[in-house]
Amino acid sequence: MKKELLELEKRALEELERAGDASELERFRVSYLGKKGLVTSFMRRLGKVPSEQRPEVGKLANRIKTNLSRHFDEVSEALASGKAERSTYLDVTLPGREQPRGHLHPISLATIEVCQILSRMGFRVVTGPNVELDYYNFEALNIPKDHPARDMQDTFYISDNVVLRTHTSPIQVRVMETQRPPVSVIAPGKVYRRDSDVSHTPMFHQVEGLLVDKGVSFGDLKGTLTGFVHQMFGRDTALRFRPSFFPFTEPSAEVDIQCVICKGDGCRTCSHTGWLEILGSGMVDPEVYGFVDYDPEVYSGFAFGMGIERIAMLKYGIDDIQLFFKNDMRFLRQF
Ligand code: PHE
Repeated sequence: MKKELLELEKRALEELERAGDASELERFRVSYLGKKGLVTSFMRRLGKVPSEQRPEVGKLANRIKTNLSRHFDEVSEALASGKAERSTYLDVTLPGREQPRGHLHPISLATIEVCQILSRMGFRVVTGPNVELDYYNFEALNIPKDHPARDMQDTFYISDNVVLRTHTSPIQVRVMETQRPPVSVIAPGKVYRRDSDVSHTPMFHQVEGLLVDKGVSFGDLKGTLTGFVHQMFGRDTALRFRPSFFPFTEPSAEVDIQCVICKGDGCRTCSHTGWLEILGSGMVDPEVYGFVDYDPEVYSGFAFGMGIERIAMLKYGIDDIQLFFKNDMRFLRQF
């Protein structure tokens, strides 16, 4: 009888520890302390206990009843006062309370994917300063003093010869200055222009690419960028190289991909042309080699620069660049 009682107490306390809400508590009360509860029915059976054991067993039963009632009151009070944490009743088998976790911004996701694809091709990731000398941002890239890109309207000037970089191309010069060919690098980063309207933001992101070695041809540029587009947007995405101009590449080309929205039929997103521009590129202009002491008779190479917002919009089907910067959780949660 004594053993039975002690086991009952142990079981009851365990059950009480697990009780997490009012209905579980009530179930506990009914099955142990209620009129037909286990403790009460034990008390009733006390009469059958041999008389010489009765005082001892009776005392034990009373102690257990008081003990269980006291614990019951404590737990009820803790639950009622909204203390979800009952430090004295820790159930280590409960699943942990998960902290909400953040995740990468779509611009970061796109940057990482671009860099992964190009890294697999052998490009090494490098970075450069956001606050840049005029020399690297313009001069060494063969952008003369009277070039419109240098206009105060387009560039954020810190001082006469310090700017917020307007593109990632200055990193080309910084890399070539410190390294002899073969060179193959990509450089992701923020760039800044005095532009702000529905399709422009004063800060946006680019990934620059540069490859210089002996015997690099325009065919290598085409092959590299075609491979990139196919991996980024799918094997069946058509692309075209359109002649263009950049002071630091000659010849230059912009790359368009078939509109991902209308598949080339023409729609609002592609201004009914069926094509979308994603990057600028070209063979490094021999003038630039002059600034970094590379011999253009020995070495040749190509460079490219792509806008990450543009790529992310096409990749994820986003039609408004401002969404990337508004930090609207409803938008960000979708990635
Ligand atoms: N820097 C150019 C831009 O921002 C892109 C570019 C990079 C073009 C490299 C050619 C070579 O528009």
